[in-house]
Amino acid sequence: MNITVIGSGYVGLVSGTCFAEMGNRVTCVDIDPVKIEKLNKGIIPIFEPGLETMVLKNVKNENLFFTTKLNEALENSEIAFIAVGTPMGDDGSADLQYVLAVAKSIGQSMQKRLIVVDKSTVPIGTADKVKLTIQKELDLRNSDLEFDVVSNPEFL
Ligand SMILES: NC(=O)c1ccc[n+]([C@@H]2O[C@H](COP(=O)([O-])OP(=O)(O)OC[C@H]3O[C@@H](n4cnc5c(N)ncnc54)[C@H](O)[C@@H]3O)[C@@H](O)[C@H]2O)c1
Repeated sequence: MNITVIGSGYVGLVSGTCFAEMGNRVTCVDIDPVKIEKLNKGIIPIFEPGLETMVLKNVKNENLFFTTKLNEALENSEIAFIAVGTPMGDDGSADLQYVLAVAKSIGQSMQKRLIVVDKSTVPIGTADKVKLTIQKELDLRNSDLEFDVVSNPEFL
């Protein structure tokens, strides 16, 4: 399958690389251009045993790509995983601003039917918020593109 992973940190980079290792064609997206530049040079920003070897192998096999351009990544993807941070606020609740910013960007840039997967750690009800956010952007575009939102949190 063609998969986009949005957020190339601990969860996104490891998940995306494993999906590529399983034979999928994966594009990992991040908002941080320095991180993406390093990844494209084969420099892995985190330590995870075996990750570097797996990243290099799948980049070489053209199963794994890194970019800052979400719209280009989504052009060929059937599934988009959201794996951005959800830092804990003072009251212990998850800050959803990054997840919802990604949802907005997906709604602005998706060009075909898409399955959107919440992989970030989020409270119950977030899938509805992600769905509404994407739909709002599609409505602004007068687009009738279809999409589904599912939960697959890393903690599972
Ligand atoms: N790290 C873990 O061991 C772990 C375990 C279980 C769950 N989680 C959860 O997984 C989620 C991700 O955690 P992490 O540790 O991978 O975070 P991280 O900070 O390592 O990575 C998040 C990445 O998202 C990128 N990002 C932010 N906004 C973006 C946007 N609009 N578009 C594209 N990229 C964007 C950041 O630049 C960063 O590289 C969080 O919800 C966290 O709670 C993490």
